[in-house]
Formats: sequence, C-alpha cells, structure tokens
Amino acid sequence: MPKPRVLIVDDEPSVRQSLTLILKDQYEVLAAATGQGAFDVLTTTPVDVVLLDILLPGMDGLEVLEKIKQRVPSPQVIMLTATKTVKTAVRAMKLGAFDYVTKPFDVEELLLLVERAVQSAALVQEVEHLRAEVGQRYSFENIIARSPKMQEILRTVARVAPLKTTVLITGESGTGKELIAKALHYHSPRAHRPLVTLNCAAIPENLLESELFGHERGAFTDAHARKLGQFEFADQGTIFLDEIGEMHPSIQAKILRVLEQGEFIRVGGNQPIRVDVRVIAATNRDLHEGMREGRFRLDLYYRLNVVSIHIPPLRERREDIVPLVQHFLALKSRELGIPEKTFSNEALDLLLGYSWPGNVRELENVVERAMVLSPHRIMEPSDLPEYIANPRQTQFHPAQQSVLRGETRLSEAVDQFEQELIRRALEQAQYNQTRAAEILGTTRRILKYKMDKLGIRPEGPEA
Ligand SMILES: Nc1ncnc2c1ncn2[C@@H]1O[C@H](COP(=O)(O)OP(=O)(O)OP(=O)(O)O)[C@@H](O)[C@H]1O
Ligand SMILES: [Mg+2]
Repeated sequence: MPKPRVLIVDDEPSVRQSLTLILKDQYEVLAAATGQGAFDVLTTTPVDVVLLDILLPGMDGLEVLEKIKQRVPSPQVIMLTATKTVKTAVRAMKLGAFDYVTKPFDVEELLLLVERAVQSAALVQEVEHLRAEVGQRYSFENIIARSPKMQEILRTVARVAPLKTTVLITGESGTGKELIAKALHYHSPRAHRPLVTLNCAAIPENLLESELFGHERGAFTDAHARKLGQFEFADQGTIFLDEIGEMHPSIQAKILRVLEQGEFIRVGGNQPIRVDVRVIAATNRDLHEGMREGRFRLDLYYRLNVVSIHIPPLRERREDIVPLVQHFLALKSRELGIPEKTFSNEALDLLLGYSWPGNVRELENVVERAMVLSPHRIMEPSDLPEYIANPRQTQFHPAQQSVLRGETRLSEAVDQFEQELIRRALEQAQYNQTRAAEILGTTRRILKYKMDKLGIRPEGPEA
C-alpha cells in the first residue's frame, strides 16, 4: 500500500516544517506556500487530504477551498485557523471542508483528524469509482441493438433521458425493460443520485403503500418507529416502479398525486412531503386490458404514458440474436472467469431458429449454461438444452401438424408439400422447366411427370 498523500498549504515556512515533521512518518507530505502553488501540485499529483491555511496571500483560503472542491476527484480539506478566524472556519465547513483545527495544534488531535479525513477520502473515491462502473454497465455500448427497432429505442432513450419526463416501458418478460430503465437513469443528470427499484408485484398490497411513502410511528400495530418510504430515498433521483400493472388502484391514486403535485403523505401522517423524483414504470401486462377491466386507472395511465417505449420480443428482432450471443459470450467469460468460447455454426443456427419465449433473459441463461457445462472451446448443438437442440416437436410444417392431428392423410400432405416446392422452383426459374428441374435436383422428365400428376400448369399464372 502506498502512503496516503497530504498537501500542506500555508505561507509560513515554520508551520509547513512542523506539520511535515508530524505527518511524514505516516504520509507522503507535499507543501505549497500559496493557493496557486497548491493548484500546481494538485494538477500533477493526486492528493487525499489538504491542510489549508485560512489566511493566505493572494488567493484567500476560502476561494482556494471552493476551487479544490470543484475538482474530480476532490480531496478532503482540513482548514488551519487561528482562534480569531473560527467564524470563517465554520463558513468553510459549509463550503465542503472536512473539518478545521485551530493553531497552535494539538499533535494527537491533528493526527486523528488527518487519519479520519484520509479514510473519508478513500470512501468518496470508492463510491465515485463504483458509480462510474455501474453507470458504464448501462452505457449504450453494453446495450445490444442491431435491429432497427432497438436502435429506435436507443435513440428515444438518448432523447428523453436528460428530461424529467415519466416513461412507461412495456414488453414481454425478459425483453430488457429494467435495462432500459437503468440506461435512462444513468444517462440523466440524476445519474449521481439514487435509482430506487421497486417491484410492485413482489410486495404484498397492504405493505406497498408504506414501502413507497413510509409511515409515522404508531400508524399501525407494528409501526414502532417512523420509517422513510422509497420516494424519500429517491429524492433528486429516479424511482423505477416495476410491474406497475399489479399495483392496487388505491395506491395508483397516490402515485398519481406524486406525479401531479410532487408530494405525498406518509401512512398515518398528515404533513405533505415534497420530493423531486423522476418516475419510470414498466409492465409486461396489457394496461389497456387492465383499464377495460377497471384494474388500472385511466388517469394514471395517461400520466405515465407521456413517453412510452415498447420493447419487441426477441423473435421479432432476430438480427439481435447473434450480437447478443457474442455479447454474453464475452461478458460471461469475464464475469465467471471462464476462457472465451464460441458456438459452432450448427449451434448458432439452432439459436437463431428458436422462438425465445423468455426473450433475452432466456438467451443469456442458455449461453451461460452452455459455457459452464461444455468442456469444448467450440460449443456444439449437444451443448444446448434438448428443446433447442432437437426442435422436432415445435418446428413442424402446418401440413405435417395436420397429418399428426389425423386431419389429413400422409399422401395428401406429401402431395401438397411437393406441389409447393415445384411451384416455388418454377417461379425461381421463370418457368424454365430445365432450370427448375436442376434446382430440385431432378430431371426435366420427372418434373414434367409430377407436374401433370399434381395438376401444375407449365406456363405460370399470367399465361
Ligand atoms: N439489448 C440488450 N443488450 C444486452 N443485454 C440485454 C439486452 N436486453 C436485455 N438484456 C439482459 O437480459 C436480462 C433481462 O433483462 P431485464 O431484466 O431488463 O428484462 P425485463 O424486461 O425487466 O424482464 P422481466 O419482465 O422479467 O422483469 C438482463 O440481464 C439484461 O441485462
Ligand atoms: Mg424486470
């Protein structure tokens, strides 16, 4: 571990010397005599803690403090003050100083304070780092969107993310609704504030209201203390109400109030509480049906639906399948520490042909499972689940299905199948029978015989 860095800014050489002596065992100590000197150091060397004299020649200590706090990452600042400038030191705390010490220093006290400031600086750096990392995960490069439909969705996300507009996201389970909600938050000015996610279907109806809005002490039997609701935690940030279609109409009315008036009342309370929260909602249910059946309030629907994003099921955007597979191959190998693997062409064809009722989440699981279980670097159909590797049951032609249901005789279905193929081949060959026979891998004589038998006219529809 390298020693944490401390920068001393004081115009008196004796103060710089004595502080250096006190700190140099535990810290790497740098010193500057003026504000400008401090910035020269800070632009070249990352520093954890600054000890800053409140009275400096040239630029005043408070001014220096303000400028230091604008830097990212910003070090913790401890103000050095004389008794007569304690008032100023208090002002400094409001500007973001960590603490202050009065000269002459008590060595023990000073060391303790610097140590606490160093720990706090480390924490701030870690939070900044984590937030940047989380945000990165929802950056556009990590959202696969090759299909025109998904590209349009990303354009919408980019356009509305910076605004406070409510967004309603719809789509089947596993299509990426939560991913889009997070992308909206992390591309907004609220990105450095919390994103609170609440699954309305997972919380019993009688608890949902207090979960959302909090409750006062004594609001009900178990309410032993005041509890803050998720709307309060999300202040200045975003709340993501997942599966909003499951929300009880009485709570829907309260959500509407927050959306329209920016305030709510805790359960058992009487004071309205103001918050600044952006609401993003998602559902895999048909809200129109909910409205027809009286389960979903019309007024809330219109209020939520200011911007709506519908994510189509994966089977309606097959262009996304291969890039998603590649994305998950790389991601899982990193996350699970598995060497990179790929799918053979046969295996990819099966993945492309499958209907993906569980959408992207199902695809993600299939890729992960194959990577974990397969001993091969190039994964084959045998590394896929049985229902994907052997899609016999599901990929029957309608004529085949009608045979199996006993509605059509086999010979009829075969004739129908042959007829269809011959018609297609003739079309493709512009009714040149020799070429059509070639396409079908047969002779012109046999083709002619079959055409007569099946009643296919040789000259095409317009003749
Ligand atoms: N376009 C995409 N690019 C990369 N990953 C995706 C994409 N779409 C979805 N995913 C991933 O697929 C998984 C499922 O997505 P998500 O949880 O957002 O779906 P959902 O619509 O909220 O599902 P549910 O309705 O079941 O809650 C997540 O791991 C998500 O990161
Ligand atoms: Mg979800």
